[in-house]
Amino acid sequence: MKLEIQTQALEQVRADALLVLVAEGNVLGALAGLNRLTGGSLAAALEYSGFAGRRDKTLSVYPSGKIGAPRVIVVGMGNPDSGPFSAEHNRLHAIRRAAAAGVREAQAQKVKHVGVLVPWGDPQIWKDARGAALQAVAEGAVLGAYRYTTYKSAETPGIEAVDVIIDRGARKSRDAAAAIERGRVVAEATCLTRDLVNGPPNEVNPVTLADLCRKMAKSHGLKFTVWGPEELEKQRMGAILGVGRGSRVPTQVIILEHRPARAAKTFAFCGKGVTFDSGGLSLKPADSMETMKGDMSGAAAVVGALQTAAALKVPHRVLGVIGAVENMTGGAALKPGEVLRARNGKTIEVRNTDAEGRLLLADILSWAAEQNPDMIIDLATLTGAARIAMGSHTAAVMGNDDAWIGAVIRAGAAAGERIWQLPLWEEFLDAMKGEITDLKNTGGRNGGAQKAAAFLGEFVGGRPWVHLDIAPVAYIEQSEGLAPHLPRGATGFGVRTLVNLLTE
Ligand code: BES
Ligand code: MN
Ligand code: ZN
Repeated sequence: MKLEIQTQALEQVRADALLVLVAEGNVLGALAGLNRLTGGSLAAALEYSGFAGRRDKTLSVYPSGKIGAPRVIVVGMGNPDSGPFSAEHNRLHAIRRAAAAGVREAQAQKVKHVGVLVPWGDPQIWKDARGAALQAVAEGAVLGAYRYTTYKSAETPGIEAVDVIIDRGARKSRDAAAAIERGRVVAEATCLTRDLVNGPPNEVNPVTLADLCRKMAKSHGLKFTVWGPEELEKQRMGAILGVGRGSRVPTQVIILEHRPARAAKTFAFCGKGVTFDSGGLSLKPADSMETMKGDMSGAAAVVGALQTAAALKVPHRVLGVIGAVENMTGGAALKPGEVLRARNGKTIEVRNTDAEGRLLLADILSWAAEQNPDMIIDLATLTGAARIAMGSHTAAVMGNDDAWIGAVIRAGAAAGERIWQLPLWEEFLDAMKGEITDLKNTGGRNGGAQKAAAFLGEFVGGRPWVHLDIAPVAYIEQSEGLAPHLPRGATGFGVRTLVNLLTE
């Protein structure tokens, strides 16, 4: 999608549709200038329709008068001051969400070219943080236009171009263009993450995921390393090898590295990349297996974040470490009762082969910790328990470093991604201690998300570490979670949070 800044007067703007985002309450006031150009026809339409600017609601009008677009789509932001974040982040999210709702509606009307009117002179909402507001418009536009159409035979093309129209006063500054570009880059990366997660498991497997990472690394100037089973033996990664033993596709550990000349900090982003989770011999029931192509959402978010880190030339060293594996059944498959040895030497008794995410993370977290990063963050669709606890809007965060946990929560809020902390008491670790081994991979159902996190904490070598359980938010099947910037299927959760963590 092409995204550009326009400073033309509204009479001159040529577009198939003009989007205007308005807060609930003073809709007419916010649209006064535009209404004048339409000779009052906009106000008439608003009055007859009863449109009040409620969140996600749109009103399409075909006004007469002196504007260059045949149709205006008014989009409600609701009350931009209410929401789950701080005042500033609530407003930015209202803009992001409304831009997505408007673009989605325009796309449904087969519009090719839209203009988004940013009325600097009008509501307070635009004035506080102009760059951030423009970035939110760009993010919303790209995220709202997203569809996964790879396997649809009759695909209708979507929106091709979005012009962000900066109305009187604001000159076409370099900052404005940079903000739009930042939003486009991070949202396009989120769409790459969505494509990877939505990609069916016969297309996206450990080897093809590694191939895609190799190509992406090459085009974006990232260093790329991949280890197959032989090398993983040498690397003493016995836990991930155990998980992959039942699959015909060889297990891969993929390392992407962004390395600027003078790096301020080193971040390690670790992703669970189970390209299909059947549960293994502790087989999942059919219903639970239906969406398990999405069990590589953490890995996919790491890919999107590394692509963005390179594109934005962030001043930190970033390691993306992905454990890519299929969890399958079969004669060679991992058996309950087996003992595995992870890279850091700890032994694990496998009680349930469906608790595989923590096994592969044990190896890649151990490796990441050895690189002495300033912080480690892992993203994993780790537990059903996190979904039960959080619902489908909020990721669970735990870790060993409250300062970094706070930074991650704030980075999420700035991105419009909700993250909430669960406690990691030492009793949760007690539950994971093994009878014949150092650890076992299950410790009872209650507090399952915290027990899984406590297990992971044994593999970070005491480095500052944050764990994001994204099982609640990575994949939306039911209508309950639907918002205009979140399509059904993969959400791409985590990309924007990770990028904000690098750029705040
Ligand atoms: N990938 C699943 C967790 C999951 C469930 C993600 C639903 C997304 C939606 C994970 O590998 C798993 O199976 N976890 C088990 C752990 C249990 C066996 C201790 C779970 O949560 O049931
Ligand atoms: Mn599982
Ligand atoms: Zn899993």
